[in-house]
Amino acid sequence: MRIALISDIHANLPALDAVLADIDRRGDVDAAYHAGDLVGYSSSPNEVVARLRERGIIGIAGNYDSTVATDYDHCGCRSEGPRQEELAHLSYEFTRRTVTAETKRALAALPFSLDVRPLGGHASGPRLVIVHGTPTLNTVYWTEDRSDDFCRKMAAMVALKAGDVIAFGHTHKPWHRVVDGIHFVNTGSVGRPKDGDWRAGYVRLELGRGEAGVEFVRVDYDIDATIEGVRAAGLPEDFVDFLRTGPRDPAPPRSTNRSDMHQH
Ligand SMILES: [Fe+2]
Repeated sequence: MRIALISDIHANLPALDAVLADIDRRGDVDAAYHAGDLVGYSSSPNEVVARLRERGIIGIAGNYDSTVATDYDHCGCRSEGPRQEELAHLSYEFTRRTVTAETKRALAALPFSLDVRPLGGHASGPRLVIVHGTPTLNTVYWTEDRSDDFCRKMAAMVALKAGDVIAFGHTHKPWHRVVDGIHFVNTGSVGRPKDGDWRAGYVRLELGRGEAGVEFVRVDYDIDATIEGVRAAGLPEDFVDFLRTGPRDPAPPRSTNRSDMHQH
């Protein structure tokens, strides 16, 4: 069975549409699932949620989805420094203002995790477990530098065995590792990559009989349309810079202070 895994779309409709078009063009995907963070940072949270519903793509709640749905006071994103914290709040407030009651209900209905059985639940066979962060919380960053023991601990929480796959997002940096025969797959991000490549990223997973196969795909999308939307929404220009570069190490935030600007 071939499965497409898409994550961290973050209200970037042109990026999502490019990924869906790529899936359609290849024509060999049996099922697609999302790993959360449908909203935040870009201008089209309602349109992204509606598109996934139209396409019948189910998935799970990222931290952005669950915090918006529950009126939490913060998006649950990590920020380094006061300007990043300010940017996080601008994005979060915009998203909370913009989501419709229908979108909010759709976000609230997302489960924390999915347990997929490509060969059917009537047969013993590999499992695909999908979470946003880790099996404990959707706010924990499962980065590539986590130890094999960390991976083992997480796998044990959802009773994975050799041949199974656990997929997650949240860090916006794709990676894949096999520990004790279990596949750990960070899907990367459709709408806000952070690995130095601005293009939309998703995963093609082959799972069923035989060894699992993991392929990372990158797709060009109409970034100008996304940027236009971000600007029209009055979101900070920092988000435009971010989209253009997909920064591995984010540049220092733009200053909002005029006297600072004159010093450069
Ligand atoms: Fe995210």
